[in-house]
Amino acid sequence: MSTTAQIGVSGLAVMGRNLARNFARNGYAVALHNRTPARTRELVAEFGQEGTFVPAESAEDFVAALERPRRLVIMVKAGDPTDAVIREFAPLLDTGDVIIDGGNAHLADTRRREQELRAQGIHFVGTGISGGEEGALHGPSIMPGGSAESYASLGPMLEKIAAKAADGAPCVTHVGADGAGHFVKMVHNGIEYADMQLIGEAYQLLRDVAGYPPKEIAGIFRAWNTGRLDSYLIEITAEVLSHVDAATGRPFVDVVADRAEQKGTGRWTVQLALELGVPVSGIAEAVFARSLSGHTALREASRGLAGPTPRALGDAEAARFADRVEQALYASKIVSYAQGFHELAAGSAEYDWRLDLGAIAAIWRGGCIIRAAFLDRIRAAYDNRPDLPSLLSDDEFAEEIAEAQDDWRAVLVGATEQGVPAPGFAAALAHYDALRAERLPAALTQGQRDFFGAHTYRRTDREGTFHTLWGGDRSEVEA
Ligand code: 6PG
Repeated sequence: MSTTAQIGVSGLAVMGRNLARNFARNGYAVALHNRTPARTRELVAEFGQEGTFVPAESAEDFVAALERPRRLVIMVKAGDPTDAVIREFAPLLDTGDVIIDGGNAHLADTRRREQELRAQGIHFVGTGISGGEEGALHGPSIMPGGSAESYASLGPMLEKIAAKAADGAPCVTHVGADGAGHFVKMVHNGIEYADMQLIGEAYQLLRDVAGYPPKEIAGIFRAWNTGRLDSYLIEITAEVLSHVDAATGRPFVDVVADRAEQKGTGRWTVQLALELGVPVSGIAEAVFARSLSGHTALREASRGLAGPTPRALGDAEAARFADRVEQALYASKIVSYAQGFHELAAGSAEYDWRLDLGAIAAIWRGGCIIRAAFLDRIRAAYDNRPDLPSLLSDDEFAEEIAEAQDDWRAVLVGATEQGVPAPGFAAALAHYDALRAERLPAALTQGQRDFFGAHTYRRTDREGTFHTLWGGDRSEVEA
């Protein structure tokens, strides 16, 4: 077989197939490979006219079809299937070749694979790709890690197939070495979970407290989407809420089982945050809310527990409440993003990735699931001040929260009084209030730890580590 393809894609399920088509539509010759060759043939039969495809039935033919340095994208399931594909291809590759893993892999796996392949002279580029099937085809947001050298060969192609932000900038950048790409994608998904949870809570409050039916709530989200909340997730929320189930004529949202599933990237975001010591309570609440929703038997057993039954508000009050929910949603969203960016900064420090937080916000402006007008403002905040301690320290965001906070608190009072759960809103407000508190009860925690375990404490008025002789005369000794 002649060496003709500039890039190869192995793993032609929907994401891989659409990515391959995206490369081809952008003028690249694309080698194709799939474990079951029927899929490869199908792609060529259905979309062959879109560009130049070089189908290969064996790993050897696939690799032989690629120009050097070879660039091959693997789009298979995270975990063992990825290792299996790497084991198949690696012996066929040469120094300088590049394997790009476009799945949602865990950064620890990516770091391990990168190290193993580096020893063989092969670049391994763990790459976050966001935007679902449509994004893969029309332009995703792309978050490649790996070596800077691999980006030199790969970057221009990724820039071509990536989504373009409103200012025309491609939504891709070399985010950092080894596992940085998959780490950034993981945090993107954690933020996605939080965003979706907050939107879900806003919906439930509008439904149960304000008393609006789904169709009207869809209209409210549509209106919000013309303002500062303008985002893909708000847009599709309006679509989902206005959809009517053909079989029953009822709102679609009322016939779908209320048990949210998850593939795991949100959970990983929280697990890693726990290890890094970063308080991502909004993302954690989103993960827990999904898992709580799935505990059907526990929910069934708990339905009779005491609590208020929400009473819908009158029309004028409902409209006022809806405005307040918008404020609460916006303020909670800022806090969630602040938490996600905090985790990005902590991961960057831990792994020495030197992530450019402004550049990450910039490549999330288009193509990805959390794309939003808002991200341009985050980019600007980091561009203005690259050492920004938190998004909450940015003057503009701080001012917006200051304006929103009365409504944010009122919504939570209303939710609590009416017994409507709003864990994401509440976690975000608690995080905000904890950060701005002069004193936290952590001093008491330290006292308790010292009491039962002689774990020592520090003082506010002088340096050193101290212990109180709790079982004795309660005098203090320097530890
Ligand atoms: C994206 C999405 C994508 C996917 C997740 C959703 O950025 O394109 O985040 O990665 O939709 O798998 O994950 P859950 O199944 O965990 O909700």
